[in-house]
Amino acid sequence: MAPYRIRLATSDDWNALAEMRYQFRVELGSPTEPKSRFIGRCRSWIRERFCSGSSSWRCWVIDDGKQLLGHVCLQLFEKMPNPVNEAEVHAYLTNLYIVPKIRGEGLGRKLVNKALSWCRARRVDAVILWASPQSKSLYRRCGFATSTQIFEFRRDTSSQ
Ligand SMILES: CC(C)(COP(=O)(O)OP(=O)(O)OC[C@H]1O[C@@H](n2cnc3c(N)ncnc32)[C@H](O)[C@@H]1OP(=O)(O)O)[C@@H](O)C(=O)NCCC(=O)NCCS
Repeated sequence: MAPYRIRLATSDDWNALAEMRYQFRVELGSPTEPKSRFIGRCRSWIRERFCSGSSSWRCWVIDDGKQLLGHVCLQLFEKMPNPVNEAEVHAYLTNLYIVPKIRGEGLGRKLVNKALSWCRARRVDAVILWASPQSKSLYRRCGFATSTQIFEFRRDTSSQ
């Protein structure tokens, strides 16, 4: 396997991150927005979220020294202050993606484990995510389990 490196995203990655976000989403469904408009909008979104160390967002990328090959993002969200011994922040893991040509080599799992190590070091209480059907086994291997406590209220789109 080529020498891949996992690191935090920098401003040099914003264009490639927006491009890969587009690739990721069009693998799952037909776009309703022109690509160029989406890339511009997504790049601005990324710049505002990932440029500051105090942001609640973190994004790790994987590269081979020349180009980005995948990414995973995490957003911390606060819990109410708690008088018992319980960590006061949760995290939402999202945007896990590896380019198709190198899937199945364990890199997705490495990215998830990187984010989880960071969460452990920062005393994150629960890490939550919405899994696609094919990625459930990967998340289970990384230690995730379905919850009996989380309830989800979905926006009703039947009338649209
Ligand atoms: C999910 C993904 C990042 C995994 O990357 P990877 O480097 O191939 O992952 P690993 O080699 O560490 O693990 C392979 C696991 O990926 C998952 N996987 C395989 N193909 C997949 C696909 N097309 N879509 C989603 N997950 C897939 C499976 O859980 C697989 O494990 P299994 O062989 O036991 O079924 C990669 O398949 C991908 O980018 N898929 C498209 C985007 C996506 O679905 N992201 C997850 C959203 S919740």
